[in-house]
Amino acid sequence: MSEPRKILVTSALPYANGSIHLGHMLEYIQTDMWVRFQKHRGNQCIYVCADDAHGSAIMLRAEKEGITPEQLIANVQAEHSADFADFLVNFDNFHSTHAEENRELSSLIYTRLRDAGHIATRSVTQYFDPEKKMFLADRFIKGTCPKCGTEDQYGDNCEKCGATYAPTDLKDPKSAISGATPVLKDSKHFFFDLPAFDAMLKSWTRSGTLQDAVANKLSEWLDSGLQQWDISRDAPYFGFEIPGEPGKYFYVWLDAPIGYMASFKNLCDRTPGLDFDAFWNKDSTAELYHFIGKDIVNFHALFWPAMLEGSGFRKPTAINVHGYLTVNGQKMSKSRGTFIKARTYLEHLSPEYLRYYYAAKLGRGVDDLDLNLEDFVQKVNSDLIGKVVNIASRCAGFIHKGNAGVLVAGNAAPELTDAFLAAAPSIAEAYEARDFARAMREIMALADRANAWIADKAPWSLAKQEGKQDEVQAICALGINLFRQLVIFLKPVLPNLAADAEQFLNVAPLTWDDHLTLLSNHQLNPFQALMTRIDPAKVEAMTTASKEDLAASVTDTGPQGNGELAKDPLSPEIDFDAFAAIDLRVALIEKAEHVEGADKLLRLTLDIGDEKRNVFSGIKSAYPNPAELEGRLTMMIANLKPRKMRFGISEGMVMAAGPGGEEIYLLSPDSGAKPGQRIK
Ligand code: MSP
Ligand code: ZN
Repeated sequence: MSEPRKILVTSALPYANGSIHLGHMLEYIQTDMWVRFQKHRGNQCIYVCADDAHGSAIMLRAEKEGITPEQLIANVQAEHSADFADFLVNFDNFHSTHAEENRELSSLIYTRLRDAGHIATRSVTQYFDPEKKMFLADRFIKGTCPKCGTEDQYGDNCEKCGATYAPTDLKDPKSAISGATPVLKDSKHFFFDLPAFDAMLKSWTRSGTLQDAVANKLSEWLDSGLQQWDISRDAPYFGFEIPGEPGKYFYVWLDAPIGYMASFKNLCDRTPGLDFDAFWNKDSTAELYHFIGKDIVNFHALFWPAMLEGSGFRKPTAINVHGYLTVNGQKMSKSRGTFIKARTYLEHLSPEYLRYYYAAKLGRGVDDLDLNLEDFVQKVNSDLIGKVVNIASRCAGFIHKGNAGVLVAGNAAPELTDAFLAAAPSIAEAYEARDFARAMREIMALADRANAWIADKAPWSLAKQEGKQDEVQAICALGINLFRQLVIFLKPVLPNLAADAEQFLNVAPLTWDDHLTLLSNHQLNPFQALMTRIDPAKVEAMTTASKEDLAASVTDTGPQGNGELAKDPLSPEIDFDAFAAIDLRVALIEKAEHVEGADKLLRLTLDIGDEKRNVFSGIKSAYPNPAELEGRLTMMIANLKPRKMRFGISEGMVMAAGPGGEEIYLLSPDSGAKPGQRIK
């Protein structure tokens, strides 16, 4: 046996201003499966992560919610941790970048870079919001596209014509935060001298650290010449102040990757024998892997290794890049109900279904991965229930009935156990190479062979014949052993199934090397259903619920939203009948209240003449003091089918205009209108 390896693994640090969705989960599940595989094999493998808690988006969102950034990131950290735990993502530590360890390490790395002459300063002219008294990042500036004239475009590119430009090129620029017209202002910025690391990066990116497609992409940047990297932001900013530079803060992407070290440091400080330096010193022999999505390659494969090199730390062994998740062949979409939050999934389905599906589709490349919801149901049911669990449920009954739950000794089909044994190294190799799809294919091919053999032996027919009891026991004992082998191979993907199987098999937690042995003369525990089929109705319910999340977040389209709803083109024409089918009424807002646990909704009690209606409306951001709405007339769609939301049933919709956030304008009739009057 070779020496156990020492491995440190990270996943990208999720932003602390939003919920985890199934796209994120592709990364965390992939990393977790790889880490579990390493642990299963007896290696020392440590998996750390953290919330990425800094930056102006987080500062502004906290302000909008009327809480401190510290409160916001604490709330989000609790939510993220629960989501990851429930998806069986088993971090050794989940920390935060807004932590003392990170402040110290960021200062240390910065001062080492500065003292080595790798930090420059110069003046930068940028748009400044005179009302909010802050500099505006490109995405906080909106205006008219200089190329095609489309209004309401972000500061760096036009969604209509695709033009890219500097924010100063925008016509009629406005601050997306306050609406004020920004002014140009100078300020001193700090730059990291990335070009000084050009030669190192050219060789490092070609030394087996990156997938070919990623290395090729980076070559384009490296060949066109690296630029110095702006690592400072002016106050007000939520982050760490730069040592010795009051009012100047580290840009969030400077301290974010250092958050990997900080999370590990935090773990070392409370784990006897775990030595920070052994993993991070320049001469460390430990392996270091970062799992990331393809959108953040430059930060990890250019800036980060250069920062580490320049401050005397070791560089990553490899950066493992994955593609993006699509759902039913398209970008995740809120209106189609395919923008699925981790929590919404968990409210309807078991985490292992998704873990297996991702495993079955994940190769080692950077291609996007499609979650096709029909294929998902079909594949999971056919492989996990139809092939794997089926073996155990077919065999267990005969052993309990015919032999008091004891597996007899012997091997009824050595050619089969040999085939399983022979396949193990190749399955392990596939896991090691992150070719989970190949590992799953090879495991399912073994499951097919086991099922075919059992079907051929048909213990259920033999059991009805005189004098065949020994044969039945021999067949079923082997069946259970083959099931156990499959569970060993699948354990990194399906830890809960493995735990339930260990309980049924009456064995200690299985490790990879356990596949070298078979159980014989062994007492089983009673069999319980290990996994149930996916009911397609649950998948349907999940997408419906995701559309309801949309209803609740319809106002979340500011700079922190994903902007998907920000554009608002005219809808296709409808005929008169379609219009006449809508029952619009004048409504009196009798009561308007906050909804416990909902950050965007108000609960409205509406009087429409003969009836009272309970309506949930996503207008809280514009009406933080709902009492001011009471007594006011508005308009509602009164014949909208009632909709079940997380907080109760919503019986209609009130009408409002505007892009969202503080800009929501509830419509009102002229004075004199009476509650219940129909709008024609
Ligand atoms: N905070 C930064 C990372 C800092 S690492 C020092 C960030 N956060 S993120 O929340 O936007 O993304 C976290 C990870 O999830 C990234 O690796 C990103 O690529 C990945 N994904 C986010 N959406 C995704 C999909 N739709 N599909 C697959 N991965 C996706 O970036
Ligand atoms: Zn344009």
